[in-house]
Amino acid sequence: MCIMRRLRDWIISGRYGKVFRSHLFCTPTVVSCDQELNHFILQNEEKLFQCSYPKPIHGILGKSSMIVVVGDAHKRLRNVALTLVNATKSRAGYLNDIERIALHILGSWKKRVVFCEEARKFTFSVIVKQVLGLSQDEPQTAKILEDFLTFMKGLISFPLYIPGTPYARAVQARARISLTVKAIVEERRKNGGDCNNKGDFLDVLLSITNLSEEEKVSFVLDSLLGGYETTSLLMSMVVYFLGQSPLALEQLMTEHKAIRANKKKDECLNSEDYKKMEFTQYGQNQTACKKFTPFGGGPRLCPGSELAKVETAFFLHHLVLNFRWRAEGEDPPMAYPYVEFPRGLPLQVEPIL
Ligand code: HEM
Repeated sequence: MCIMRRLRDWIISGRYGKVFRSHLFCTPTVVSCDQELNHFILQNEEKLFQCSYPKPIHGILGKSSMIVVVGDAHKRLRNVALTLVNATKSRAGYLNDIERIALHILGSWKKRVVFCEEARKFTFSVIVKQVLGLSQDEPQTAKILEDFLTFMKGLISFPLYIPGTPYARAVQARARISLTVKAIVEERRKNGGDCNNKGDFLDVLLSITNLSEEEKVSFVLDSLLGGYETTSLLMSMVVYFLGQSPLALEQLMTEHKAIRANKKKDECLNSEDYKKMEFTQYGQNQTACKKFTPFGGGPRLCPGSELAKVETAFFLHHLVLNFRWRAEGEDPPMAYPYVEFPRGLPLQVEPIL
């Protein structure tokens, strides 16, 4: 097969090209930064390739995590994920919840914000609301966030299980999040499904009979993990690049002004408005290159991509209509190993009156 021959040539041809051999987590590894090869690998998962993570990651994510399971077990969990995504999307308050949280965060802005922190607050509040039905001011939300940050720090750390190491802390944080989630699940069961949340993610998850209790909790954790930093980083990247491109910002503002002009004052956004956010969605997708795979591909294509795009679009809508901003000094994104803005993207903001 041509691509396999090319893969061999790529690896042989040089150590520091787009594809090279290395040693990561004590394992011989091929690293690929080649879009075409990555696309090919993703499309051929479970055929020519199989997903696998270093053992210590299993210790943190848990053996039932959808991210680490393979084969039929993955297929079964993935079907559940797709059912849940559809159930969540058709819930009446789905879009309103996202918009309300965006307005709440933007409403608290004074003269200066550290954008990455604001974006994280936003995406965390959205995912906790969507998955567990909790709002930002509930004590359980703060507890989950604290444990979650510890969990994230240990996810890519040296796998040394000695009290006090980031790895050990992450494993313990995961156990605490599991307990909190189990308590929320129990409460929901006792109340026989809260009528305010009927048909939400948690109700649907609880009604699924072919998942064990452990798998259900793991599922909630995967959704929190998948839906938090990824989306806030997308938002930060968009805001960063808009700051570098006045023309794109102008075009984005024109799109959102036109949508607002057709609505009453303070009227909520709906799915028709979202469809009209074509330039906004184009910017997020970067579809110019078909092989670009920000949401993965093949049997592991991200099930949360639509939620991430709606969140970003709705936040941008209110951001560009209500604020002017200017980056406070240079702060380009760097990868170590997550892509981050070293100073968190500080912005001077000014309301548009
Ligand atoms: C900009 C935001 C996002 C990006 C860039 C992103 C990216 C990705 C990528 C690349 C994968 C494939 C991983 C692999 O091949 O193993 C993936 C999978 C996944 N994502 Fe996302 N994601 C985003 C938002 C979300 C959201 C909001 C959720 C939750 C609602 C979510 C939940 C998941 C889950 C559960 C998986 C595992 C799917 C599977 O193994 O079949 N993601 N995501």
